[in-house]
Amino acid sequence: MSDLTGMAKQRILSGVQPTGSLHVGNYFGAIRNWVQGQYEYDNLFCVVDLHAITVPHNPATLAQDTYTIAALYLACGIDLSCSTIFVQSHVSAHSELTWLLNCLIPMNWLTDMIQFKEKAVKQGENVGVGLLDYPVLMSSDILLYDADKVPVGEDQKQHLELTRDIVDRVNHQFGTPKELVLKRPEPLIRAEGARVMSLTDGSKKMSKSDPSDLSRINVLDSPEMIQQKVKKCKTDPIKGLEFGNPERPECTNLLTLYMLFSGKSKDDVIEECQDMGWGQFKPLLTEAAIAHLQPIQQRYKEIVDDRAYLDSVLREGGQKANEIANRTLNRVRKALGFLLPL
Ligand code: TYM
Repeated sequence: MSDLTGMAKQRILSGVQPTGSLHVGNYFGAIRNWVQGQYEYDNLFCVVDLHAITVPHNPATLAQDTYTIAALYLACGIDLSCSTIFVQSHVSAHSELTWLLNCLIPMNWLTDMIQFKEKAVKQGENVGVGLLDYPVLMSSDILLYDADKVPVGEDQKQHLELTRDIVDRVNHQFGTPKELVLKRPEPLIRAEGARVMSLTDGSKKMSKSDPSDLSRINVLDSPEMIQQKVKKCKTDPIKGLEFGNPERPECTNLLTLYMLFSGKSKDDVIEECQDMGWGQFKPLLTEAAIAHLQPIQQRYKEIVDDRAYLDSVLREGGQKANEIANRTLNRVRKALGFLLPL
């Protein structure tokens, strides 16, 4: 895709798993940034359903959860005039490139991944091969589209580093300086919102898999739920509010959330809140969260039950994604010496 000057736009690729409820960590760490940057780039956003089965999943809800995430992309403001939305499993090249890359990288690159270690502990003896391979599938998602930039939250940084290591290894072994096999992507991680913390423990990341729903604000939470969660969230007994005090992680997190929901600058938030107590601040945060999420929820309601529309978006997105991905897959097959499909 070109802009008005005829220059090709850089390409963005990112995705969210259709697991659990989308929370404001996912929103501020990823989707909001996709929306804000989308007119500068040529964008592909996938619903990464193959990643969702790397931990035990419910087959009865996977398809509906996939629709929900696609509808939320649209409700949050993804614009189809410059962005493509598709479902990962609709493009078989993701699985195929994963296999090719699996055969080219050492096992210890994967066993050393922080997220694997964290999630593997939770799975105990039942930890699946798919969980170990999760980062290779993620690399395939990115590399199939020759993505220049990958907007994600802080927790995905190590996966991006692995992707870059894979690129260097494959290019070194199978490419030439003139003809590279894979393109090296850059992570795009914003300073603010890249790591939203749990409402019940400011030292832990807000997460879909936390057993307590009180630990997160979900994008689709009702005003009453938001009010209740903010009311019950962990604070501290210190008077006055401040950013960046390592002894007060909850304070930094809640002020950051207020800044993100309200759209105010950090300086304005400091000025407004520095002398407040929690009793004064919590209703402000609640109101800002409700006001920010309400229009998204409204658009979501309009879209999610329109299956014909969602299907047409995903069908068209899948067609475009397949075209690009299959071209790259053939390039990799060729570089690896395969007899190409006849
Ligand atoms: P998922 O669904 O677990 O997370 C989706 C996005 O949300 C970000 N995120 C957060 N950001 C800030 N604070 C938090 N507490 C928080 N929790 C989650 C994640 O960093 C992510 O950007 N592995 C990816 C999905 C994926 C992907 C890809 C991303 C699969 N293939 C290719 C980019 C490119 C993930 O973590 O999904």
